[in-house]
Amino acid sequence: MDMRTHVREAVARAAGAEPDQVKLEHPELAQNGDYSTNIALVLKKGKAGAEKIKNAIKPDNVIAKVEVAGPGFINIWIRNEVLVSIVKEVITQARDFGKSSSGLGKRVIIDYSAPNIAKAFGIGHLRSTIIGQALYNLYRFLGFETIGDNHLGDWGTQFGKLLYMLDRENPKRLNIEVLEEMYVRFHQMAQEDKSLEEKAREWFVKLEQGDATARNLWKQCWDVSMAEFYRIYDLLGVKIDETLGESFYEDKMGAVIEEAKKKGLAHESEGAWVIEIPGMEVPLMILKSDGATTYATRDLATIAYRMKRWQPVKIIYEVGGEQGLYFAQIFQAAKMLGYTDERTELVHTKHGLYLDTDGKKFSTRKGKTVKLEEILLEAVERAKKLGEDVNEETARKVGIGAIKYFDLKHGVQSDIVFDWEKMFELQGNSGPYLQYTYARTQSIISKVQGSKSSIQLDTESWTLNFNDEELAGLRWIYRFPEVVEEAANRYSPNLVCNYLFELAARFNTFYNKHSILTPPEGGQTKQFRVAMTAAVGQVLYNGLNLLGIEAPEVM
Ligand code: ARG
Repeated sequence: MDMRTHVREAVARAAGAEPDQVKLEHPELAQNGDYSTNIALVLKKGKAGAEKIKNAIKPDNVIAKVEVAGPGFINIWIRNEVLVSIVKEVITQARDFGKSSSGLGKRVIIDYSAPNIAKAFGIGHLRSTIIGQALYNLYRFLGFETIGDNHLGDWGTQFGKLLYMLDRENPKRLNIEVLEEMYVRFHQMAQEDKSLEEKAREWFVKLEQGDATARNLWKQCWDVSMAEFYRIYDLLGVKIDETLGESFYEDKMGAVIEEAKKKGLAHESEGAWVIEIPGMEVPLMILKSDGATTYATRDLATIAYRMKRWQPVKIIYEVGGEQGLYFAQIFQAAKMLGYTDERTELVHTKHGLYLDTDGKKFSTRKGKTVKLEEILLEAVERAKKLGEDVNEETARKVGIGAIKYFDLKHGVQSDIVFDWEKMFELQGNSGPYLQYTYARTQSIISKVQGSKSSIQLDTESWTLNFNDEELAGLRWIYRFPEVVEEAANRYSPNLVCNYLFELAARFNTFYNKHSILTPPEGGQTKQFRVAMTAAVGQVLYNGLNLLGIEAPEVM
């Protein structure tokens, strides 16, 4: 049983409460113990009640000491023996440390990345890709069966415009730039000639009806885009299980529309078909007056399909906050249509934007879109300058790691000011700092011990006589599994970042003050110090790995 469960149950027993009622926190100040609970306040028993509960919590093989503080908080200290045993646990469990089985037998779908074809992969879809992958890794670590689905924007009326242009201009070479340029030019031309919008609509209807020319042109756009997207995914080291995309639902939307009509949920409005959502002003359009389907029709078909194929307990949409209202509508409509019920939770993470230093949306700097690929390659170049012998492979890990960490350390819903300096700060809360600390732990191990496998885990020979810095490290390491769980439950990979940064800081403080190779008489042994170093390294590795960041052995 893990430590937190043990403490929670001990408190619940003493308070005559259910374990679920017991909320445990970690006190801000180390002098206030390892866990604290306000259960006496929750049960409205006040300070006197807290005293009683405190007395009923008996020190045992995990709990060292219990005290009451303030208006009735109960603080609990963990035994040093237990703290130290975690070091051994980390080293023996290695890459599995922090895993849990709480998700076993349950499926979660993560809908992430989802760039739009015929457009460059912009920085806007970077967040979704990075956060989505981190959530995917977190849920998998907790034992869930995870399914990543890249819901590509590869269908919709905008393709009518493109197909019209492609058919008219028949360009020799096709690439994203050409496609983007055509799209822009279409809009310029359409200002003069109103009939063009109508022509574009016709082209999309043709596409939906399976017209061979339309299909062929669309497929070319798709191929050109995917070649480009996969270059980005390779650079990022991201692989998404499924890429069904909006076009996959082409033949599955009729059923949604039928069902909505049959159930009396959709009604006609100026030739279009819409679903009214109770409590919301704008209805959801599922069929346009010209017979074209919409983004929403495809999302509803997607939910029906996912429910039937996977029966997930949760679908996480890692999509920007600007689609907040839209997803609220979709989630309600899916319920009304009977596609989902209370057994499935639909979540929209609502990530924030990247901003430029002037506070404007990053993607429109100097009037032209910033290409993601250029940013990623620049990150790799910057990583090379961090050290003399940073080779190509390490530079990729560090450069991409810097980008990912910088994104993830921000709360998902907050906006991010893109800042190269902070991203590569070797002394601050950055990916390179954590990677550097990991590499440091590995070099210590090889210097002092030769190799990881020769670390001795003879805990009997470790004294319980810790200095402050050792204790600070031990009192942080054990929290990792808790942080993983909380980060997943709250869709907040930044909690893992905060945790790792503090872990690295505590370790570096220890390392700067104490010798690992020659510890003083009477204190901890060299064996313990190497083992603790290895445990810190392992937790850094596991945490970075969850964030999708590779940790080079040498830096
Ligand atoms: N392609 C969409 C966009 O760029 C994001 C898709 C998100 N996923 C979804 N199921 N709608 O805005």
